[in-house]
Amino acid sequence: MSEADAALPDSFRQAMRRIASTVNVITICVGGEPMGITATAMSSISLDPPSLLVCINRTAAMHGRMEDVSHFRVNVLHRDQEEIARIFADRKHQALRFVDGWTVDCERPPRLIDAQASFLCRRIDHHRFGTHSIFIGQVEEVAVREGVDPLVYLNGRYAGAN
Ligand SMILES: Cc1cc2nc3c(=O)[nH]c(=O)nc-3n(C[C@H](O)[C@H](O)[C@H](O)COP(=O)(O)O)c2cc1C
Repeated sequence: MSEADAALPDSFRQAMRRIASTVNVITICVGGEPMGITATAMSSISLDPPSLLVCINRTAAMHGRMEDVSHFRVNVLHRDQEEIARIFADRKHQALRFVDGWTVDCERPPRLIDAQASFLCRRIDHHRFGTHSIFIGQVEEVAVREGVDPLVYLNGRYAGAN
């Protein structure tokens, strides 16, 4: 491996620290069990059809279950929901995950009631790549919270966008 190759993962990480992302909790419900994960790897794909993608690490508890579900939901966090981001990014807090603020009836994936925005997606396709899988969703329903003040992750920290 050349010196440049060896340095690439760190350079990539440093470059990614300079890219601001919204913070999302991706949710599913399988066999009556709600599951969720904090994820910044989310992007719109197209308006026609309305579609987006999320990238989930293959080591995440819900990764295997994503292949079993018809729908997932992207809950975009509001600036005042940093605590939720932390809870869904740490396995130690699993018991706290759907305790407060969620609609969980398991007919559909859990919805964070006060999310900045949420997208109910039909899972259309997935592709494995490296450590992650990319799940493509066609958007079937959208909800938005009034005002625009999302939680953002930048340079390894949570922040606001405004
Ligand atoms: C700010 C932030 C962004 C993250 N983004 C992603 C992501 O896009 N995809 C992913 O698979 N994991 C991501 N993670 C890591 C997961 O949230 C974390 O590993 C989580 O604990 C996995 O869920 P589990 O504990 O149920 O296995 C992120 C973590 C943080 C703190």
